[in-house]
Amino acid sequence: MKTLLIVDDEKPTRDALRMALEESFDCYIAADLEQATQVLKNENVDLLLTDLRLGSDSGMDVLDTALQLPTPPVSLMMTAYGSVDTAVEAMRRGAFHFVTKPLNLDEVELLLKRAVRSRSLETENKQLLAENTSLKESKARSNHGLDRLIGKSPQMEKVAAKITQIAPTRATVLIEGESGTGKEVVAHTLHDLSGRPGEKFVAVNCAALSPQLLESELFGHEKGAFTGATQRRIGRFEQANGGTLFLDEIGEIDQATQVKLLRALSERTIERVGSNSPVKVDVRVIAATNRSLAQMVESGDFREDLYFRLNVLGIHMPPLRSRKEDIVLLSNAFLVEFAQENNRPVKPLTEAATSHLLTYAWPGNVRELRTAIEHAVVMSNQDQLDIHHLPEFLSSPLPSTSTQSDKNTLAPEDEFNLSALEQRTIQRALQATNGNRTKAAELLGISRRTLQRKLRDDSTSEN
Ligand SMILES: Nc1ncnc2c1ncn2[C@@H]1O[C@H](COP(=O)(O)OP(=O)(O)OP(=O)(O)O)[C@@H](O)[C@H]1O
Ligand SMILES: [Mg+2]
Repeated sequence: MKTLLIVDDEKPTRDALRMALEESFDCYIAADLEQATQVLKNENVDLLLTDLRLGSDSGMDVLDTALQLPTPPVSLMMTAYGSVDTAVEAMRRGAFHFVTKPLNLDEVELLLKRAVRSRSLETENKQLLAENTSLKESKARSNHGLDRLIGKSPQMEKVAAKITQIAPTRATVLIEGESGTGKEVVAHTLHDLSGRPGEKFVAVNCAALSPQLLESELFGHEKGAFTGATQRRIGRFEQANGGTLFLDEIGEIDQATQVKLLRALSERTIERVGSNSPVKVDVRVIAATNRSLAQMVESGDFREDLYFRLNVLGIHMPPLRSRKEDIVLLSNAFLVEFAQENNRPVKPLTEAATSHLLTYAWPGNVRELRTAIEHAVVMSNQDQLDIHHLPEFLSSPLPSTSTQSDKNTLAPEDEFNLSALEQRTIQRALQATNGNRTKAAELLGISRRTLQRKLRDDSTSEN
């Protein structure tokens, strides 16, 4: 059972709290700073619940004393209704949360239990990070093969298994998936494991060039083949001979080049632009696209025969939002990477920041996550990376561990309930402004008085 220290100068409150909590926690009681300090120093306290006002003492001092311990307890501050500023200050100093008086005992118990869970999450996170640090060190020695592809979700395990299986073959591979899901990483991995060590990996971005330029980029040209072709040029196919040619954004190539590419793939020969003597090439082709080639075939924008040629083996990269378990793993790897790159110590993410990362939908997938972590590493001047270090678009999503945000999450039956929606918007505005009602009212486009009335209405309707 976890130990809990309850600090309150009023005996009735102390007793009520003890009664309500002693079934779930092993409780200690203190009435002032001195008693609290005694317990904190002599006992192993897992959780601290302290009132802000303790007669002539301040709960802030209890909090500070607790936080200076080698293994500080998870701390909750009790404050009088309305003193949000102090509560925010307590959180800034390191308190896990605050509860307002008059106390709702069930809520207090729930928060304490949640605090215990979050602490174990945070520890787990730190362990993961430590493992990752050593993993990254070994990786620095060999940033090679499957090592570069981070992910332990079932979907990514499948991708990894497929890669291992098909890498050593000569077969053409088509990698499909949303932008930022790691298609290029997969292409490199396939090359690394292809059993053609030391051979070239040549990449062409098919979207970056006009049709004519793309054709000569891929197949090369003879001198005088077209205006401006003042010299013979060796194309990418020939450059990649013996190795891998990566055709990125294959969905963007025009019909004429599609025909030439089909020939190159089926006959394993190419012709330079302006020449009709075929050149033999031994190249493994990997193509990638974030469009649906099947759909493009259907609409007549992509040749069906070429599609089948390319898609001998297909790999589909799952979006990040469908494999949440990879988010923490990837974040930790990026934390280490950017800490090293910026010459900074490696700092863990707080539980709150982690839950933000887990609830966000990541339309830009892994690339977007990587940028977000880089941002946090650069912005943080604390020991941990917290919500406000993340890019702004991330600091507004809904659930975190606070009671305020419990109001932010709508029950399914409230989805279309106007006043529930209104209350949620109000709570979000308050969160965004750290509870400052004047600023929140401004944000909401209503007067401060209206905001106050709406908050009162909500609290009476709850009782
Ligand atoms: N599984 C992964 N492990 C480690 N890093 C990853 C992983 N997936 C993606 N990344 C990183 O995310 C970024 C985007 O990956 P990548 O360029 O491979 O995506 P993509 O699918 O090719 O995107 P686009 O369609 O926009 O070209 C890169 O910095 C890459 O290193
Ligand atoms: Mg790419």
